[in-house]
Amino acid sequence: MSIYRQAVELIAQTLREKPTANLMLATGSTMEPLYALLRESGLDFSLAKTFNLDEYYPGNQFREFMNAQLFEHVNIDANKVHFPTLDYDEVITAAGGIDLCLLGIGVNGHIAFNEPGSSVDSRTRIVELDASTRKRNSQLNDGADIPPRAISVGVATILDCKKIVVLANGDEKREAVERARFSPISSDCPASFLQGHADVQWLV
Ligand code: GLP
Repeated sequence: MSIYRQAVELIAQTLREKPTANLMLATGSTMEPLYALLRESGLDFSLAKTFNLDEYYPGNQFREFMNAQLFEHVNIDANKVHFPTLDYDEVITAAGGIDLCLLGIGVNGHIAFNEPGSSVDSRTRIVELDASTRKRNSQLNDGADIPPRAISVGVATILDCKKIVVLANGDEKREAVERARFSPISSDCPASFLQGHADVQWLV
């Protein structure tokens, strides 16, 4: 089974067990095949709440990505869709916490927009993007201007999620995935903090 079908299965299982589940969702090119499958899945999202990991600051590119890739095609209630705000951690806690968190990984080992140097106890905040991240995201978006800052959940926000699924595809991700999984835990590779979580599934 492809990594994308496995991810759909995990989301389906989460929604079967708990139709009101809180899902944390990622953007990025890695997620596009997954959202294509979800559009066709017939899954019932009507009671679920979604919380995206990050957004450019200021900006709404990730909201537009999510609308086009997923939200306009499935029965998600627009009132149950969330994007980061400075009180996001409180909003998530008040909603009962995240049941399933989908993550991609940056070539430099970032998760959400927790760039190298992010601390394990970081929470939702405004962050400076790495030059390498802005360059790559610009290339993936037809040379679009990428803002220097973003608002992103923190490493601690991610580690609070009950279950985490990380998707990574392609040779350019190999080194980041290996460092994240097998190197000593370090803020040089924020994805390595996932080693401290009890329920992470890597789909690579
Ligand atoms: C992006 C996002 C991350 C994403 C990662 C990988 O900039 N902020 O949430 O997982 O970088 O992106 P891609 O899937 O395009 O390689």
